[in-house]
This record gives sequence, structure tokens and C-alpha cells, in this order.
Amino acid sequence: MMRIGLLGCGNIGHIIARHAGSFTISAVFDQVFARAGEIASISGATVYEDFDSFINADFDIVVEAASVSAVKRYAPEVLSHRKDMVVMSVGALTDAGFRETIRTKARENGRKIYIPSGAIFGLDNLKIGRISTIKKLLLRTTKSPASLGIEAKERKQIFFGKANECIKSYPKNVNVSVAMSLAAGMDTDVELIVDPAVDQNVHELFIEGDFGETYIRVTNMPSPDNPATSYLAALSVLSLLEEIEDPIIVGT
Ligand SMILES: NC(=O)c1ccc[n+]([C@@H]2O[C@H](COP(=O)([O-])OP(=O)(O)OC[C@H]3O[C@@H](n4cnc5c(N)ncnc54)[C@H](O)[C@@H]3O)[C@@H](O)[C@H]2O)c1
Repeated sequence: MMRIGLLGCGNIGHIIARHAGSFTISAVFDQVFARAGEIASISGATVYEDFDSFINADFDIVVEAASVSAVKRYAPEVLSHRKDMVVMSVGALTDAGFRETIRTKARENGRKIYIPSGAIFGLDNLKIGRISTIKKLLLRTTKSPASLGIEAKERKQIFFGKANECIKSYPKNVNVSVAMSLAAGMDTDVELIVDPAVDQNVHELFIEGDFGETYIRVTNMPSPDNPATSYLAALSVLSLLEEIEDPIIVGT
């Protein structure tokens, strides 16, 4: 059974811990020690007070559910310790230099970096963009003022531009667009809308290319065991963990 080292023990970490079954959580690390302790009590994992002891523990893969800064700080070391890595804080990979650093480290150590589909459908098929032209790649995300942490009395566009730029103003709202860019091999156009009338995140994908065109609209339900996290994002990382060990890989 696959043994996980969990880096980051917040909302997603708790959901992963509650659904362990086909994998076990062996080691946990969080900058807030008490949070790691909570996960340890659910999973029986060992809590580590510092990253060095955590990364030297005996497990197969690090699941990062912490922050962009944690990915930037720790990913190279994870890979040099010959461990695979699942990255939830995908925003870290907007930096092309950093992306190449970890790609090289992973190659040198025979490791993989996995990026879950997160809160959208269709990420798998976007990979066709690496071999066939995509003419339009647009993500329209609509969120409530509370979810964006701003005040707004009416629906309005608050950002339009590239995913790479969006991270500068809205670092917590780019994971989906960055995952799309990485899948397609090109920067995604992002339209961010605040709407007081919505209470769920809505992602709309508009894609046109040599293959034809598609439109995907996803309304994200909150996780039943943690309303702060989209259920689809939680299901996506859990299904990725299931698939890693399966010899039959489904999807492009
Ligand atoms: N890819 C996706 O679709 C997707 C979906 C949801 C969340 N996310 C991302 O996943 C990450 C985790 O989300 P969450 O809702 O569980 O967040 P959270 O804030 O509930 O939990 C994050 C935990 O990580 C810890 N942490 C942060 N930086 C750390 C560091 N440098 N070293 C050690 N511990 C650190 C925090 O103390 C906290 O306990 C976030 O970056 C979020 O943006 C991605």
C-alpha cells in the first residue's frame, strides 16, 4: 500500500486523512505543529517538527496541501530525496524557471510530479494543446465577494488577463487556470468575476482549436466534511492517489 507524507494539514489535508484506505498516511508536517497533530490522531501518522526529519522518514510520496511558498521552498528537496510529489498549490508552477528546476530534479532522481485536475473537468483532454493548435483557451471564474475576500454589491469583472498575471493580484484563485496552462502548454486567459448572487464557485472553460470547440461549466459544491474546500478538488486528489498505483491509466 502506498505510504504518504502529508505536507500541509489544513482543509485538504483533513479530507485526505479521512479518506485513507487504498493509501496510508505515514508522516505529517505542518508549520503549525498542532494541525499536524490533528491529522496524526485521525491517521496514526508520525508528526515531524521539522522538514528535514519529515523528508527523511520512510514513505513513497509527498502530498503537498500547504501553500505556493511551501512548494517553492520544499519541492526540490522532496525530489532529491527520491520521493514523488503531488502538488495542490499549482500556482507555484507559474514561475518557468522554478518549473524547469523541479522538472530537472525529478528527471535526475527518476521521480514524478503529479498535478490533480482540481476543481474542473476536462484537464486531461487539454493536453492535446501540446501537439495540436489551441486558438482559444479561456477560463471564466465566478465567485462570491466573501470567497474573494472583497466587497461587491453587483456582478462585475475584476480581472481579465493571463493566468501568469492573475497570480500577482489573486494568488489564491489561480490554481485552476495554472493547471490548464500546464496541461495545454500555453498561458490561459482568465476572466475573474465577483457576483453577490452566487454562493458556489463557477468555472467556465471555453476552448477552440483544430479539434473543434468545447464549453464546460462546473458549479462546485463544498465538501460535505469541509465546506471551505470544493468537493470536486478533494475528489480529484483522492482519485489521483487511487490511480497512481493502478497499472491501467484512464484518460489522455
Ligand atoms: N489544485 C486545486 O484545484 C486546489 C484546490 C483547493 C486548494 N488548493 C490549494 O491547496 C493548498 C491547501 O489548501 P487548503 O484549503 O488545505 O489550505 P489550508 O489553509 O486549510 O491549509 C494549509 C495548511 O498548510 C500549512 N502550511 C502552509 N504553508 C506551509 C509551509 N511553508 N510549511 C508547512 N506548512 C505550511 C498551514 O499551516 C495549513 O495548516 C492551498 O495552497 C490551496 O490554494 C488547490
